[in-house]
Amino acid sequence: MKPLIASTFMQAYHIPRATGIEALTLTGSHVPTPERGQVLVHMHAASLNYRDLMIVEGRAARGAPPENLIPLSDGAGLVIAVGPEVTRFKPGDRVAACFMQSWVGGPLSAEDGASALGGALDGVLAEYRLFDHQGLVRLPEHLSFEQGATLPCAAVTAWNALFGGQPLSPGDSVLVLGTGGVSVFALQFAVAAGFRVIATSSSDEKLDVMRHLGADHGVNYRRHPEWQEEVLRLTNGDGVARVVEVGGTGTLARSILATRLGGEIGMIGALTTGGEINPTTAMRRNLILRGIYVGSRQMFEAMNRAISAHRIEPVIDRVFPFAAAAEAYRHLKSQTHLGKVVIRISE
Ligand SMILES: NC(=O)c1ccc[n+]([C@@H]2O[C@H](COP(=O)([O-])OP(=O)(O)OC[C@H]3O[C@@H](n4cnc5c(N)ncnc54)[C@H](OP(=O)(O)O)[C@@H]3O)[C@@H](O)[C@H]2O)c1
Repeated sequence: MKPLIASTFMQAYHIPRATGIEALTLTGSHVPTPERGQVLVHMHAASLNYRDLMIVEGRAARGAPPENLIPLSDGAGLVIAVGPEVTRFKPGDRVAACFMQSWVGGPLSAEDGASALGGALDGVLAEYRLFDHQGLVRLPEHLSFEQGATLPCAAVTAWNALFGGQPLSPGDSVLVLGTGGVSVFALQFAVAAGFRVIATSSSDEKLDVMRHLGADHGVNYRRHPEWQEEVLRLTNGDGVARVVEVGGTGTLARSILATRLGGEIGMIGALTTGGEINPTTAMRRNLILRGIYVGSRQMFEAMNRAISAHRIEPVIDRVFPFAAAAEAYRHLKSQTHLGKVVIRISE
């Protein structure tokens, strides 16, 4: 049998200092050997999240990343070797990394929060990477490595926003803001679950794509700055049962007004600034504002079962070669994408 490992030498991107996209530096090193409980993965693909842009630009909420960080949380690849006492995986398994390496299930702990890849810990923009065996999941069989690499952050966050809080029922309305990674996954999961979806976007072309993917309605938030009024009109004045809130302080006040009495807002993003939030509005509407920080491995596994059952295909906007990783970052920064931006690390 052909050995799974082709080389003892590997390359990885590092961020020596978080001064911007041009700081990304490709460096060579030896392929590591897995120790007890570790799994060596030949990374085939990685995907970008808005957070990765914030990290390389030194504007992440946690402050400056560790010096010389390997960036990106989301990646997929092939298990090459396992260390002693690893029973969950074997060479040849196709896997994706969990965003938080130690959060298996239950409530989030401070330790779990400090185990995020491409942030507190080195990430996946590398040809080979060691993981703790608890920090990996199997890929759905119908997905390529590039599709699998889109799942760990954006998809798990969308899954958590829809299924980690108050239960929703088929026929309930869900509002997704914009057409980035999290929101497109939320649309796909909501459609599979039989929810009605209203999508907003700055672009009519992107709204057409969202309708093609199953959105019932699209609202252009540039043309309708008071877009919550459109959402109310489209829901007979009631508002939606759930908002996938990726906008942050600039959109939250409108999201509150667009939510039905007793509904829930998944508080996810910080794309916008400004805006004044009146807690009384949320209080009088009996809303739940639920903070979401990606999700656990158990959520990832539950999501993968649904992805397999419904044969959901992640929406990939563009795939960039490993050598052009900085171009992938610039493309994400342009915000012209819809869905996920992927880097192919190896064939
Ligand atoms: N809490 C968590 O665990 C978690 C996990 C993942 C992501 N996030 C956060 O969620 C946000 C989205 O992440 P992402 O990776 O999906 O981003 P992304 O792929 O870069 O997508 C961003 C999209 O948001 C839309 N947008 C921008 N301003 C908007 C506004 N004022 N109103 C409505 N939509 C707006 C734009 O869509 P259009 O071009 O269609 O207008 C843009 O393309 C980021 O703040 C990210 O940090 C948080």
